[in-house]
Parts: sequence; C-alpha cells; structure tokens
Amino acid sequence: MTVIEKAEQQVGTSTTRIEAVDKVTGAARYAGEYPLDELAHGVVVTSTIGRGRVASVGADEILAMPGVIAVLHHGNAPRLHDPGDATLLLLQADTVPHQGAVVALVVASSLEQARAAAEALVVTYDEEPHDVGFTADHPKMYVPDHVNPAFDTETVIGDVDAATQAAEVVVDATYTTPTQQNNAMEPHATTATWHGDHLTVFDSNQGAASVKQSIVKLFGLDQDQVRVLSEHVGGGFGSKGTARAPVVLASMAARTTERPVRVALSRQQMFSLVGYRTPTIQQMRLAAGRDGTITAIDHLAYSQTSTVLEFAEQTAVISRMMYATETLRSRHRLVALDVPTPRWMRAPGEAPGSFALESAIDELAEACGVDPIELRIRNEPTTEPESGLAFSSRSLVACLREGAQRFGWHDRDPRPGIRQDGRWLLGTGVAAATYPARTAPSTAAATAEPDGRFTVRVTASDIGTGARTALTLVAADALGVAPGQVTVLIGDSEFGQAMIAGGSMGMSSWTWAVTDACHELLVERAQREIPADGITVTADTAAKVKAMSRLSRHSFGAQFAEVAVDVRTGEVRVRRMLGIFAAGRIVNPLTARSQLIGGMTMGLSAALLEEAIMDSASGDYVNHDLAGYHVAAHADVPSIEVGWVDEVDHEVNPAGIKGIGELGIVGAPAAIANAVWHATGVRQRDLPIRPDRVIDTHPRPNTA
Ligand code: MOS
Repeated sequence: MTVIEKAEQQVGTSTTRIEAVDKVTGAARYAGEYPLDELAHGVVVTSTIGRGRVASVGADEILAMPGVIAVLHHGNAPRLHDPGDATLLLLQADTVPHQGAVVALVVASSLEQARAAAEALVVTYDEEPHDVGFTADHPKMYVPDHVNPAFDTETVIGDVDAATQAAEVVVDATYTTPTQQNNAMEPHATTATWHGDHLTVFDSNQGAASVKQSIVKLFGLDQDQVRVLSEHVGGGFGSKGTARAPVVLASMAARTTERPVRVALSRQQMFSLVGYRTPTIQQMRLAAGRDGTITAIDHLAYSQTSTVLEFAEQTAVISRMMYATETLRSRHRLVALDVPTPRWMRAPGEAPGSFALESAIDELAEACGVDPIELRIRNEPTTEPESGLAFSSRSLVACLREGAQRFGWHDRDPRPGIRQDGRWLLGTGVAAATYPARTAPSTAAATAEPDGRFTVRVTASDIGTGARTALTLVAADALGVAPGQVTVLIGDSEFGQAMIAGGSMGMSSWTWAVTDACHELLVERAQREIPADGITVTADTAAKVKAMSRLSRHSFGAQFAEVAVDVRTGEVRVRRMLGIFAAGRIVNPLTARSQLIGGMTMGLSAALLEEAIMDSASGDYVNHDLAGYHVAAHADVPSIEVGWVDEVDHEVNPAGIKGIGELGIVGAPAAIANAVWHATGVRQRDLPIRPDRVIDTHPRPNTA
C-alpha cells in the first residue's frame, strides 16, 4: 500500500500551465505537426464566384505536375452521409453557395507541390447572380423557428407598445454590429490516417468526442472505427466548436490516396470556411418612468445565415433575463444570403446583443438623468423576467458596486464632453455583462496506478484556456493529493463522451464527471489492493444533469472603460478598462484572469477595429486576411484590470463553477461606446467606432 500524501486545497490557487514548457519548447504537438511516414499534403481550392455551379475542374493537367497524387472534386470524391451539418457535405455536388467555398482538394507529396498545383488548377464555373446584401428590409427576411441553441425566436410579455406610449421616457434606437471573424492563432488543421477500416485523425477542435460523431456519420463508420486526437489546440473561440472542412477533407483524401494526409487552412481560407459572427441590426426600444424604472424592453434583432445551413444567432435573448420590466418583447429575424455560413464566435448572442442593450441602457440613463450604475440597480430583477424562475445566484449589483469603487466612478461628472487632455476628449463608460452558466453531461475515468499516482481521462479540450491545468487542480482536490500526483489526459475521443470546450460549459461539465470518478475511485481503492493494471472507475453525469432543478443560471459582470477621443482625427484610444465579474468558483485565478482579459481585449477589438467588409460586386470579403482585418494588437490594448467578487453557487453544479470563457467580451464594446459618448456627447451606435464615423458625427468647425 502506497502512502498518499495529504495535500492543501488546490482549487483557487494560481497555478502555471502544466504544458507550458512543452509549448514554449515546441514539444507540444498541434494537429498539423504530427510527422507520419508517407505523409501527403492536401491544399484546399476555393470558389472564386459568389454563386453558381462548377462547370469543369482541370484535374488532368494538374495530375501531371510534380508530386501530385490526387485532385478530389465533386465528380470523384467519396460520397458522404449527412451528419446533420450540411457545411460538412464537401465535394458532393457541383453547387457553389458562396465565395470561398470548397471546390477541390489537391493532394501532393509535399506542401509546396500541393500549393503550386492548387494554384495552377483551373476551375470553370457557370455563374449565377449572388445576393450578399444584408439589410433589415431584405425581402427574404423571415422568422426562424427558433434561435441558437434552442431558444424561442420570439418572447412577448404584456403589451410593450401600450407601455411605451404611456411611458415618460422612451429610448428608440438602432444599433449595428459588423461581421466579425474568428481567427484563432492556430489555423484549422487535420492530419488523417487510415489503418484498414480504422481512421485516426489529429484534429484542431474544441471537442474530440463531437468531431468523432460527425466523422462516424459522414463516413458511415462504427464507433470503434474512428479516433479523434486533439492534445493541443491553439484557440477556437467557437470556430472549432464542431467539425470543420479540414477533418472531412483530410479523412476523405487519406482514404482515396491510401496515405496519411494533412490539410491545414490558410488564414485567407478561414474567412469563408470556419464560421464568423453574423452582422446584426438591432432595433431597441426602452420605456421607463422619469426615475428610470423600466416598463418596456423591445429588442428586435436581424442577422444573416447562408443558404447551406440555418444558423440563427440568439442576439435578443439577453434582453429576456437582464432587467426587470413590466412588458417585454424580444424577437429575431433572419435572412439566408449567398455568404459563408456564420457560426459561433465568443459569446454568440450575448456579445452583439449586449452592445445594443447596454448602449440603450446608457441612453436611458442619460435621458432620465440617472447615473447608469444606479439605473441598472433600480432595474435589478428578483426573478428572471422572461420565465419567472429564481436565479441560482445573481451578483450583478455586487460587480457594479465593486467596479465603481475600484474604477473611481464616484468622482465622475455625468455631463458629456467636458473633460479634456490636449487634443483628446476624455470619457468613462460602464456596461453590464452576463452569460449563461450551463452544464452538460460528460463522462470521465479515474485510475489509481500501482505506483501511487493517479491518471484521469476526460475528452476535454484545452484550447489555450488552461483547462488541463484547472482539471488537474480539481482532480487533485477530489483525490486529496498534490497536483503532481495526478496526470490528466484530455483531447482523445477514446476517453468517451464529454462536453466541448464551448458555451463556457467545459469546466463546469468536465469537473463534475472528474470529481465523481475520483470520489468513487477512493471508495474502490479503500476496499482492495491495487492490481498491476490499476483500478479504474468511470463516471457519467448524464442522469444528474438531467435531474437538475429549473433555475435561471448566469454569470454576471461589470465593465468599465476610459477613452480618449480626438474628434478631428476620429481616433478613439482606450486608456484603461476594468472588469469585475461574478462567475462562481474560480478554479485557477492565474488563467482565469487571462481568460477574462482576453475576452475584454476581444471586446475592445470589436468596439474599435474588427469588421469584415463584404464587397457586393464579388460577394467576397475585401479584407480576408489579418493585414486588412485588424485584430487588436499590443499597441491598441491599454491597462486592463480584472477582478471578481466571491460567489458561492451550489445550484450550477457541485463545484459551483459558472465558466469564464465568454463573459469577458460581453458588454465590453458597450462600455467603450458609452465612454465615447461621455467623452464627446455623441452616440456611436454602429460598430466598429471607426475614425470616419467619429469625424462624420463631429463636423469640423468652419476655419475659413
Ligand atoms: Mo464558444 S463561441 O461557445 O465556443
């Protein structure tokens, strides 16, 4: 019997990443880095028309080029079965639904040969007119059956029109957010290899178990014929939430060529093949009494999808739970255009929705002459407005108060346009943040090894968040040992079903299964000697998750920003940001802080910089690379401070974890836009707040 050293509690202590040295030394392998014998390289060829059909693929000429092994296209590619995601039915038909759609895959012995051949491949098209114009009055605008993931498309409580008519104060404004592009540091990549009828893929994704299910269905395979490995993943933001083109194409090509095949997308290809945040147009009406007590919230959100798949962003859902109101209307409209398919991007729904809601709240505060923090506190609901359900916990007011204290809000002069620093006008703004705190079924296994160590297996994904490290702390506590005695293995579909690293539900879901497995293991181990192959116990939380009570479960936060605006050049510089959050138990403060700063940085980027510009003539994004699509860089990002209030919530899951992946972005753009108003006295209702938009709303004084 080995002596187990009792350890201090690890959850809550700042811990550096377990794989940090592997990552900085290059020992950590990403999906496109596995050196397999006879590896061939697939390069994706994408459409150059906005809509139509492929007329011909000049494969013969290409097959004569050096090293070229195969050219897959709709005429010769293996047939696939619909996995419930039509974006994955690649090379199955001659139809071209949008610019940048997959029309061929060129496979060659070297990447250079594949690239040269892909560039030389001549594809001709029968072109049809495309429609990429996203407008609220588009004739094909329709009401989707539901919005993601399964929300009612419309919620109506009471008579908002009557309440608005009777109100002393009304804010009625339209806000827009542009197409924003997911572009994680590691482009989507897959290395696929078949051994007989068994397929192994090294794939960059947010959930190996989910990708495995897509592959099983696409290729009509049995569960034991597919293994998906995703040990290290360089970011995702939602764009790797489910299978994407590389895993399908590499698996197909590996079967056809009988060689391992690697397919990695280029940066440019990521602008049409991995999903992006839909543009939104949001009509927001708030009605209130003179004291700021809200009597009507009316939120109508328009967004786009592709003709391939209906993706209905839940933009207006945030208005159903955020503030107390007598009447409520939250609605969605959608139009299917000849555009790439939008998908999840960090806080889908809440991120764009909060820009409209939290900007309108600031406008209401201005109209009522009430401090915007005070106005939010006055409209704090006791139960969830839409459902009447109790909140499992709700610490928005605590976040606002703590943030106001730390930010120095109380010294703020509410009048806009009066603080100046040389050529800069200065202002401060605040906005609230929220995100659902959900938990999904997962499985995990815990093993007591004969040498006294423990191994935990869970199909979690660490997309750069520090999930592996956080899980190790949780497992160590559950086992009552030091983290050094536990090895947590993740990113392997062989470990069984588990939630993806998405919806901010990874940690909340995985830790439940891991903790259950560890606790049961301790019981088992106490009863017998550990055999040579160890003692392994598995846990599945499906029944427990299903049995959870009906409650409104959300994290909350308060975002603060100080900006400097030069109305003559149109420049907006964020000088400082502070985010105070309430997200239940914080497992690893070090990486949690990074997550929240990352979210706020992405919010800053959305507020001022990010915008994929659609060219109606070509049907393509003009700026489909990271030179033209500017993501906030170091010089754009000032001091960002993050804190959290203590929050114990045993109703979200036994560990009390609410998740922090998305919360940090929510409300950040509104806080900045509200600060820009405070600096200049002019509302900016369209993101990003570009210099031309600032200049246009500040006519130059006549200097003639
Ligand atoms: Mo996140 S957009 O739910 O992967």
